[in-house]
Amino acid sequence: MRLLLGNILFSPRLGELTAIPRGALLLRDDGVLEDVLPAAPEGADAETVDYGDALILPSFVDMHLHAPQYPMLGMGMDLPLIDWLNTYTFKTEARFADEAFARRTYRRLAEELITGGTTRVCMFSSLHTDATLILMEELERAGVTGYVGKVNMDRNSGGDLNETTEESKRETLRWLDACDRFHFVKPILTPRFTPSCTDELMAWLGKLAEQRGLYVQSHLSENRGEIAWVKELHPDCAQYWETYAKYGLWKDHTVMAHCVWSDERERAAMREHGVTVAHCADSNINICSGVAPVRTLLDEGVSVTLGSDIAGGAMLAMSRVVTTSIRVSKLRCMKTDGRDGFLTVDEAFYLGTTAGHRWFGADGGFAKGKPLHAIVVDESGFPEPVRELTLRERFERCIYLMDKSAIRAVWSEGRRVAGA
Ligand code: GUN
Ligand code: FE
Repeated sequence: MRLLLGNILFSPRLGELTAIPRGALLLRDDGVLEDVLPAAPEGADAETVDYGDALILPSFVDMHLHAPQYPMLGMGMDLPLIDWLNTYTFKTEARFADEAFARRTYRRLAEELITGGTTRVCMFSSLHTDATLILMEELERAGVTGYVGKVNMDRNSGGDLNETTEESKRETLRWLDACDRFHFVKPILTPRFTPSCTDELMAWLGKLAEQRGLYVQSHLSENRGEIAWVKELHPDCAQYWETYAKYGLWKDHTVMAHCVWSDERERAAMREHGVTVAHCADSNINICSGVAPVRTLLDEGVSVTLGSDIAGGAMLAMSRVVTTSIRVSKLRCMKTDGRDGFLTVDEAFYLGTTAGHRWFGADGGFAKGKPLHAIVVDESGFPEPVRELTLRERFERCIYLMDKSAIRAVWSEGRRVAGA
């Protein structure tokens, strides 16, 4: 047994925050969280890791990001989606045919995720099978866990980033066969978005998802030009989501990034089928996609999580994605004269932590009976406050001010993977 001591904070449910001053997390030897205790038990037969006055929080979960766009962070930000894809994104992703470049880039990305406190991801790779396997290796090496998808895209990409329908199918099978060796990183089927995939490929992926019990991730209703294009491609579908549903890709655990323009009917289809939204606030503002109706999604009972969506989003650190989601929700609140209430700090923290862990089957903030995913935050680099702060105030300040220099330790899947 092991005991981690410190100020414990987590959000068990949307809008709720539990704060335990000088509490204890009791871990089994295999890293599974046995209990969350109000104080260190007397005379416990356990190795103790005392984090003193630091804060212990659940780690962050990034439910939507593009690993091969890491080299283009902060580029092309003044273009709308389709131009941005054609001008920058596809050209950047094409570079991942080069395995040495992929290894270097993905090692650095995995390291930056972990030191920034992100221990679970749902991630897009590129269409390249070998680079995708390299990405999975580098994530495992660093201690990042979750799902990675080799991207399927057999139309409308142009340039150097092409696969035929046959290649896409063959390479997907080759990739899946090679994934058995990973322990903490698993495959997820990843049709890029409807304009990138022929009907034949979508139908094949839907069948594969069913046969092998695989989850699916993609993009939905991000940008108005994209939605109009999908309508032209699928005149038989009244709405964008139906282009996925038609092929068995709209199902429990499916992750759809963005959903900025999803109307009531599309939102109801998410709720009814257990589809999860990855809300990507920074990306939505950068490429002028729109301001997603997060409050409405939550009020209607849709499952909402957060994504950095690098490199549409220009920040990998999920602490910053959390605060950006708050700011963007305040924009919507002001635009609707207060009708759509903004996300509070506690709510956005819930979306960036608990809601994501929940998708992975670990609910409640710190999930008892599951391997620990946690970060330890040290405030000593923050400005000296003018009075003693409550634990609640310290939490809020941490959410707004923390960067990786404040993250003293990271625990992933029950193991310490960064810091001391
Ligand atoms: N839609 C299709 N591909 C992409 C992508 O790479 N990024 C974003 N933000 N939207 C997409
Ligand atoms: Fe994306």
